[in-house]
Amino acid sequence: MEAPVNIAVLAGTTRLQRRSIKAAQFIAEFGRKQPGVEIEFVDPEDFIFPGDGNDPEGKDPRYSHITEKADAFFIVTPEYNHSFPGSLKRMLDSELANYNHKPVALAGVSDGNWGGVRAVESLVPAVRETGLVVLSWDVYFPWVQNIFDDRGAMKPEFEQRYNHSVQKLYDELIWMAKLLRSGRVELYKQR
Ligand SMILES: Cc1cc2nc3c(=O)[nH]c(=O)nc-3n(C[C@H](O)[C@H](O)[C@H](O)COP(=O)(O)O)c2cc1C
Repeated sequence: MEAPVNIAVLAGTTRLQRRSIKAAQFIAEFGRKQPGVEIEFVDPEDFIFPGDGNDPEGKDPRYSHITEKADAFFIVTPEYNHSFPGSLKRMLDSELANYNHKPVALAGVSDGNWGGVRAVESLVPAVRETGLVVLSWDVYFPWVQNIFDDRGAMKPEFEQRYNHSVQKLYDELIWMAKLLRSGRVELYKQR
């Protein structure tokens, strides 16, 4: 039987009042409903990355294990000053080889009209440099404070829109994760 597709859903920030965590949790819960998929939810708050870079002392072994095991990534980033938060960058920078030839889907979040599109656009060259393969479309959560209730549940009027767009993204991500997983086996056999 085919091994489950393991997807690491990365939340983008750590501040106490953070709202993008609701979008990240929604993405993770949505992924758990996909057949043949297992989801690892990664909250940067739960990890410690001493210093900078990806030297052994700059890694968190738990994050190393998660990224090594992952077949694919789904990053949910809010927009901070037209970019993505430093905690997400620090986390991403702590690994390199574990990302290579794996697909990544991106989601943007903001409390205004833009939905984090500039955060996502600035994330694309960074994740590409790590060897991740970026999907050609994304999902956005503009006015995030209006989409989820206080407990983090999506309000019913948004469900149709996000069920459609997030499902489309997962279909593509899972398909690519399977292709690249077998592709990596072939590639590493030749090396
Ligand atoms: C430091 C900081 C910078 C921000 N910069 C932008 C920005 O450039 N563009 C934007 O649309 N929203 C910006 N925002 C608003 C955030 O997108 C919004 O607060 C969002 O909820 C942040 O995610 P979080 O709540 O998970 O931290 C900024 C928020 C913070 C805290």
